[in-house]
Amino acid sequence: MRWVTPRGLKFSHSVGVIKLIHLSSVVLSFAGFFIRGIWMLQGSVKLQQRWVKTTPHVVDTFLLVSAIILAVQLHLSPLQHPWLMAKIIALLVYIGAGMVALRYGRSRNERLAAWLFGMLTFLYIVSVAVSKSVLGWFAYL
Ligand code: HEM
Repeated sequence: MRWVTPRGLKFSHSVGVIKLIHLSSVVLSFAGFFIRGIWMLQGSVKLQQRWVKTTPHVVDTFLLVSAIILAVQLHLSPLQHPWLMAKIIALLVYIGAGMVALRYGRSRNERLAAWLFGMLTFLYIVSVAVSKSVLGWFAYL
């Protein structure tokens, strides 16, 4: 435990709250990506509902803002911690894959490939977050 003074205790508590928000948005983001991919494959009209289109933006905003606050609170810079830089780059890849999968993909196969790739990228980000290594799951081999 790094923060033992009363001031420090407050600080670590707020890290916990932001981390909870970060992790909740991580779960919601993945769940949303997964279910929208299923609807995309089924050609479902549910994808066209307004809340289905807007909610992911809200969730991803929470995800990104909580990530930035966490990094600042923990004094972690992506320039000094390659795993953090890897997360940021992989997040951009995940967003790009999502755009192809759910919007710009020209064929069903292209969208399916982008959806699967997006989910793999997401799992990689989780593994980087947990292992604190650019290698992700491979760091445990
Ligand atoms: C889809 C995107 C993301 C996912 C799935 C994700 C996932 C996670 C997970 C699972 C943790 C908890 C790790 C643990 O306590 O063992 C975490 C913590 C964290 N994440 Fe993210 N994250 C994402 C995006 C980002 C981005 C873009 C940043 C960079 C600004 C970031 C910064 C952090 C920080 C600083 C922590 C706390 C690390 C620590 O406790 O030492 N995250 N993330």
